[in-house]
Amino acid sequence: MQYRTGSELRELFLRFFESKGSRRMASFSLIPDDPTLLFTIAGMVPFKLYYLGLRTPETTRVATSQKCVRTNDIDNVGRTARHHTFFEMLGNFSWGDYFKAEAIPWAWEFLTDWVGLDRSRLYTTIYRDDEEAFRHWHDVVGLPEERIIRFGQDENFWFMGPTGPCGPCSEILYDQGPEFSCGSPACAPGCSCDRYLEIWNLVFTQYDRQEDGSLLPLPKTNIDTGMGLERLASVVQKVRTDFETDLFLPLIDCACSLAGISYGETPRGDMAVRVISDHLRAVAFMIADGILPSNEGRGYVLRRLLRRAVRYGRLIGLDEPFLLKLLPTLDGLMAPPYRELVDNRSTIEQVIDLEERKFGRTLDQGMNLLEAEIDVLRKEGGQILSGAVAFELYDTFGFPFELTEEVCLEASLSVDRSGFDGAMQAQRERARASSKVAQAVVSGGVYDDLYQRLGDTAFTGYVSVVEETKALALVRDGREVDEAHAGQEVFLVLEKTPFYAEGGGQVGDQGRLEAPGFRIDVTDTVYGAGKLIVHRGVVAEGTVTKGASLKAVIDEERRWAIRRHHTATHLLHEALCRVLGDHVRQAGSIVRPEGLRFDFTHFEALTEEQIVEVEDIVNGQILRNVPLRITFTDMEKARAMGAKALFDEKYGDIVRVIQVPGYSTELCGGVHVDSTGDIGLFKITREEGIGSGLRRITAVTGMASLKRVQALFKGASALEELFQVELSEIVPKVAELQDEIKNLRKDLQGATLKASLADLDKYLASRINVGPVTLLTAFFTDLDVDLLRQVGDAMKSRVPSSLVLLASRNGDDLRLVAMADEKAVQQGAHAGKFIKEVAGRFGGSGGGRPNMAQAGVKTTVELGANVEGLMKDSAAILRSQLGL
Ligand code: ALA
Repeated sequence: MQYRTGSELRELFLRFFESKGSRRMASFSLIPDDPTLLFTIAGMVPFKLYYLGLRTPETTRVATSQKCVRTNDIDNVGRTARHHTFFEMLGNFSWGDYFKAEAIPWAWEFLTDWVGLDRSRLYTTIYRDDEEAFRHWHDVVGLPEERIIRFGQDENFWFMGPTGPCGPCSEILYDQGPEFSCGSPACAPGCSCDRYLEIWNLVFTQYDRQEDGSLLPLPKTNIDTGMGLERLASVVQKVRTDFETDLFLPLIDCACSLAGISYGETPRGDMAVRVISDHLRAVAFMIADGILPSNEGRGYVLRRLLRRAVRYGRLIGLDEPFLLKLLPTLDGLMAPPYRELVDNRSTIEQVIDLEERKFGRTLDQGMNLLEAEIDVLRKEGGQILSGAVAFELYDTFGFPFELTEEVCLEASLSVDRSGFDGAMQAQRERARASSKVAQAVVSGGVYDDLYQRLGDTAFTGYVSVVEETKALALVRDGREVDEAHAGQEVFLVLEKTPFYAEGGGQVGDQGRLEAPGFRIDVTDTVYGAGKLIVHRGVVAEGTVTKGASLKAVIDEERRWAIRRHHTATHLLHEALCRVLGDHVRQAGSIVRPEGLRFDFTHFEALTEEQIVEVEDIVNGQILRNVPLRITFTDMEKARAMGAKALFDEKYGDIVRVIQVPGYSTELCGGVHVDSTGDIGLFKITREEGIGSGLRRITAVTGMASLKRVQALFKGASALEELFQVELSEIVPKVAELQDEIKNLRKDLQGATLKASLADLDKYLASRINVGPVTLLTAFFTDLDVDLLRQVGDAMKSRVPSSLVLLASRNGDDLRLVAMADEKAVQQGAHAGKFIKEVAGRFGGSGGGRPNMAQAGVKTTVELGANVEGLMKDSAAILRSQLGL
């Protein structure tokens, strides 16, 4: 068999299926257009609707190499030869076109004739009573009966998830030879060890699994296959694990050389570099597809993988951030087929950098905790760190068990593994319970049923604002009803509608549904399931019945405001890229009639000049008053047009491209103005940070910006009136007044000090002799600490060996200052300790040096009555502190 690189195998596969009439398509995003899945987990995911017969494909034969992420077994990645989070799945698909008779011999032809695998080492497994598959393998391909093994539901029936497309499958196994065997006498095809390696899964997708587990036959029979590229490469390149193929080895080598270790030296080091190389691939591709670290959903998975890689880095001595150093190697391996790595390089770098640094600090904190625990254990003469502590380190500080174990080992301690496993198990059960709840919210219910029956709702709102249509379904309290009466809230599905359903950041339309017998005020429009549009409203008059003909009219003025803000969002997006750089990516967007909000990746606050520059660019485009160009095309052409593709766009076959000619091109399903001049004045009203590496801009256009300007003018006029100057002179005027206030305050303090010093003799009379030290106390109101100190200085200079305690009440605040002269300090007085104890009596706190200290007390106590008490108390405190 000829040696082939991973890239060559990918290309060979796609070419083979092109020769069988399939269309080659680029990999789809890792973010599926499917609310039941977090990630694209298989090649067939982007095509789910074709399998279900809910959408008609343009072509019925397709082949892809699909980026996939699976997260069901993260803890095993790195431990085994073949677990991965990110991998590439080679797949060929047929929707109602070719079936078993073609899929089986073609798979054989590809593996034997094209790749050159040894025929005598190939086996297959089939679903127990799939005689059709048996015939094709036996009679057509010529595989002897003993190499066709029958299994049941668990092994040979593939499900996409709890619901959705599924069917019997046939797996192709490759016998790697006895040296790969687990050694069990029962080791045979189907054994989970590495000898009989499953390399390709052919699924005969014939059913749609329902909520209740029943299998509904699909309208047509289909093919879905999946072959892990990494696994195929390991067989062809005759290496023991996927990590030794050319798809991984450069990354492994790079990680080893950063850590100064060699691959194959220690199991621990090998595992660490495997984890790092696997997770780096996942992290980089996730960021490229628009995922950002967060504490939930996809962002959480991203964060977890990045952290796991960093932790394993620490195990091999990579204590400083290192992931960025692996990126050039990753690009060398993966950027040729996956351009998104290059296009998003600066975002990938910045996100990794920020997240890795932040996590490094958390790890340091965890290390402090662990060291403290080890200290305690040692003092107590213990030998074993508890599983609970190890789990807390894992859960809160991201320490893998092995890291905790290693640190403990250095201190000659061990860790309670079973306690740790128990805590982990308990947490898994909690997580499982909560994920079931989440699923119930997104799937099921009346709208899924309606969607199955009615399919996508025709949306006519790009061109019309009024539509003669029909109420196909009415829903109240989660159930279909035949009618709804005045005063009732109702959800309606129409035959076609001009109402835009909330999506792509744009809010849903409002308006009316009316006919001679009723009127419904629509307050919101949303998608119920798929592209089924649901109008939420209240029956204002009459009774609406299912099937009624009606006129759907959207609130046009509100729609206009939305259109302006949506197009302005595109202008803003492009302007930000131009002013800040191409690392700027949309991270979220809300388009409302009142204004727009745009979240994007950037790592520092915008300067005033940058904000002005952005506003100038956007308003410049508005004043050009260019007509927008809106076209429908396919994804490839849109890319060629340089369209900004946002990560949460729905990648169907046909995409909608919004162009401001000569300026920007974006994929978008929203509503837009006809010409940029329709937008009116664009004004940014706020710029703020909303998380690490994320900024948010809020802005207004149209009537909303006019209202803003009017309000500002009103405020400015009031100021002009008040200060009796022109607007341009208000700032210097206010500055002048502030100076004046500052000077007046200084004068006032001078006068207060003078008055206080004039009373000095009175304060000196307060003296109490405490052994060799003289205690002086005085109380004031509304003196700041600075003045208190000046008074204190004057007092202590008059009485040798003195400790002065001064208090001033400012509202509910009591400020205390204590000062001791040198002699008093020599006698053992300590202003800091003294004031700490005094303030403590009042529930306050403070401290300082031996000669000078201060404290604060929050109190509503009437101090007048307590002066005597405080004097006596403080004398007693001083006495005991002096040891008298
Ligand atoms: N969708 C099938 C799998 O993932 C091919 O195994």
